[in-house]
Amino acid sequence: MKSPNGQRENWSSNLGFILAAAGSAVGLGNIWKFPYIAGENGGGAFVLVYLVCIAIIGLPVMLCEITLGRKTQRNPVGALRTLAPRSSSVAHLLGVAIVLGAICLIAFHRYGWGALSLGLGLAVFRHGWTVVGAMGVIAGFVILSFYSVVAGWTLGYVIKSAFGLIDASSVESATNHFVAFAGNPGWSISCHFVFMVMCVAIVIKGVKVGIERWSRILMPMLLLLLVVLIIRGITLENGSAGVRFLLSPDFSKLTTKSVLIALGHAFFTLSLGMGAMITYGSYMRKDQNIFTSSLAITFLDTLIAIMAGLAIFPAVFAEGFEPAKGAGLVFLVLPAVFSKMPFGTLWATLFFLLLMVAALTSGISLLEVVTAYFVDERKWSRKRATLIFGGVIFLLGIPCALSPDKDIVGWTRMPWLQNILVKAFDIKLGCFLDVMDTAASNWLLPLGGLFISIFVGWIWGTRKAIEEIREGSHNFADVHLWSLLAGLRDDPSHNSDVHVITLASVWGIFIRFVSPVAVMIAFLHTIGWLDFANKGHAPPPQPPPAVEQVDGAVATQE
Ligand code: TRP
Repeated sequence: MKSPNGQRENWSSNLGFILAAAGSAVGLGNIWKFPYIAGENGGGAFVLVYLVCIAIIGLPVMLCEITLGRKTQRNPVGALRTLAPRSSSVAHLLGVAIVLGAICLIAFHRYGWGALSLGLGLAVFRHGWTVVGAMGVIAGFVILSFYSVVAGWTLGYVIKSAFGLIDASSVESATNHFVAFAGNPGWSISCHFVFMVMCVAIVIKGVKVGIERWSRILMPMLLLLLVVLIIRGITLENGSAGVRFLLSPDFSKLTTKSVLIALGHAFFTLSLGMGAMITYGSYMRKDQNIFTSSLAITFLDTLIAIMAGLAIFPAVFAEGFEPAKGAGLVFLVLPAVFSKMPFGTLWATLFFLLLMVAALTSGISLLEVVTAYFVDERKWSRKRATLIFGGVIFLLGIPCALSPDKDIVGWTRMPWLQNILVKAFDIKLGCFLDVMDTAASNWLLPLGGLFISIFVGWIWGTRKAIEEIREGSHNFADVHLWSLLAGLRDDPSHNSDVHVITLASVWGIFIRFVSPVAVMIAFLHTIGWLDFANKGHAPPPQPPPAVEQVDGAVATQE
């Protein structure tokens, strides 16, 4: 992380930072997942809830992470280590409580969970808050290993569509094609390998020349591709039905569960909960504006998710396909949709290129978290860290590539691994990719987000956080909200009062109360301790079998 003269590298400009961070946020979550979960949860009604979640939870937590990073100029582990009280009785108490819980689990023969909790309890006892950063680094390994497998498929599909190798005359043949491709270990692993090589090649170059430069090239390209595809989609005859599907609210399809899905997705799509934004924030200069940057990143991410819906649904409707196809929408339905259009090969190639570009800028952010940790804390060289951990993540991804879906391959290639997981953890998920995804999206990210907001809100304290944000963003901390909205920020009479409502005070309230409570509720629900989701509703219709599933916010924990 140090440049030759020993200084930590910085983004070369605010725009560079925003593009890189938006590159991290915009990924498969936006283009592949958002459209289909919106489709399944009532279209416009879901979009509204999602927007609220982004505004009241996503944006405040994003501010926390970036502030932690810029303040400490460190990776997630180093950031928490720098700011957290060295020894705290709370950490000791919590550690002891977790260890006691672990002993109970072991007594009830839950050995896997018991061992995990024992390790966690001891770590919390000894290292306190630093454990939250460490969970982030671990989440980096876990997420990138399966993310890269799916990204590898998009890479394979770019090449295949460019050469017209996909037979997608119907959804059935597109499905067969996908099964033959993603279900083939040789193809899956090779594409996963190539994707990891691309991530390593960018991250190894460092922050400015690697991540920032590539984000500056890839993000505009992504926007351009999206605009082309939207124009293509809405100019199709009957394309407007797709726009209506996405934007007109159908509140009858909105359940409590949809709200929780929207909340979980808000974390994943903004790359929150594991310190990716702490790491990117750590390369910011003090004169950069944390508030407006967070706003821009959040806005771009949301805009691109909605644009992706606008690129996909009009085409799906115009060609007379089913919109509620679930997770298979992108790989199974879209190739068939494109093959019906004039110049279908071109549109398909552009679309998968779009998906791959989005995945690449997200993949590098995940690898950067791991790299930054080893460079800052273990004093490794960047080259060594990226090469070694790129390799480790590639290896971790191989089981995902071997067991990528629950319907076709399932566990048939690794029954022993399934046995171990069932025996140790009583996990009954359909495939290994789901296991990794659920571990990250249902456990590591929400817990990480919860603890980051508790840490900033209650331990480090909003007052110190605001001091950091104030540097480079005077308006956020010092100008009365009404004055700001009214354009009167330079009028001294509006800002003289000590207890004024500022953006900062609103943020403080959110981060201390609203975000932790909301995330806690969502977390308890996903792990099944709180089940109010379907009360009062008819049981939801069974979704069509999904071919694969990446973001586990919808994965059911059995
Ligand atoms: N946000 C990305 C997406 O929407 C994925 C991603 C990149 C991510 N970095 C992350 C998710 C860090 C959680 C944490 O696809």
